[in-house]
Amino acid sequence: MQRSVVFFLAVMMMSAATHAQYTRKTVVAHRGASAYAPEHTLAAYQLAIEQGADYVEQDLAVTKDGVLICLHDASLERTTNVEQLFPNRVSTQTIEGKTRKAWLANDFTLAEIKSLDAGSWFDAKFKAEKVPTFDEAIALVRGKAGIFPELKTPEIYAGRDVKFEAMVAAALDKHGLRGAKADPKTPVILQTFGQPSARTLAQIKIGVPVVLLLNSADGFQTPAQLKAWKGIVHGFGPAKAIVLKNPDFVKWAHAEGMSVTPYTFRSSDPGSFKDVTAEMSHYLYTLGVDALFTDNPDKFPRK
Ligand code: G3P
Ligand code: CA
Repeated sequence: MQRSVVFFLAVMMMSAATHAQYTRKTVVAHRGASAYAPEHTLAAYQLAIEQGADYVEQDLAVTKDGVLICLHDASLERTTNVEQLFPNRVSTQTIEGKTRKAWLANDFTLAEIKSLDAGSWFDAKFKAEKVPTFDEAIALVRGKAGIFPELKTPEIYAGRDVKFEAMVAAALDKHGLRGAKADPKTPVILQTFGQPSARTLAQIKIGVPVVLLLNSADGFQTPAQLKAWKGIVHGFGPAKAIVLKNPDFVKWAHAEGMSVTPYTFRSSDPGSFKDVTAEMSHYLYTLGVDALFTDNPDKFPRK
């Protein structure tokens, strides 16, 4: 074969290659199939699997008695009836820089949290849904999809001397989901906005890929700034606007063998695109992202 043809084929293979942890364009069910069922309930996770999700996301929190649960917010009032059942347990908290009244999950035991209705806020037909433990989420998803846990608001736990990263490592060990004998049918990718937390995961040799989430392009505006994270994390999870504004972000990450998994794609807000499938197609096949988080896994465009 002529050298020019070999070179052309090599370039084509490189441009078609997937990066870091992914083997194909990948759909992550954001909080489960959360367009159709209450986020972070077993109903939402089950539906995500039925809709063909490659991974099901769990945002993780820690209860007062040290149990990992699946909950997006640090506090319970948006997605449960905690305010009705425990009106006197409110406190003033500063969460992600904002001070407000909150029913912080870390102030409640698992038994208390399990007494809450985690589905009615979304639709009365889900009133039996509970806040799942991480163990319960793993039991439901394993063998059917990967899991994509996020260490949520790690700064809260650092301030309370809770070893969040070590707890997640122990949970993965307990379920045989990391290390040489990890279950290949249940791949695991961790994610966090917390840069100290990402560094801790690298220091403890977590042994599964880690995605660093970005809600702002600050500090990630040059190839060198992305490269500085090589060897610490395996890829980036930017807010989708970051990639739309700077499509070179994908090229810079890929040049370092790092992946790009933007968030969040939802049918209720497809931006300037005609629908969420068109929006996801643009990111996947024009901008070249590797994977994405969506509330609508059923609308993911496979080629
Ligand atoms: O984890 C990716 C995406 O879920 C980040 O946003 O707030 O939905 O956790 P959030
Ligand atoms: Ca998340």
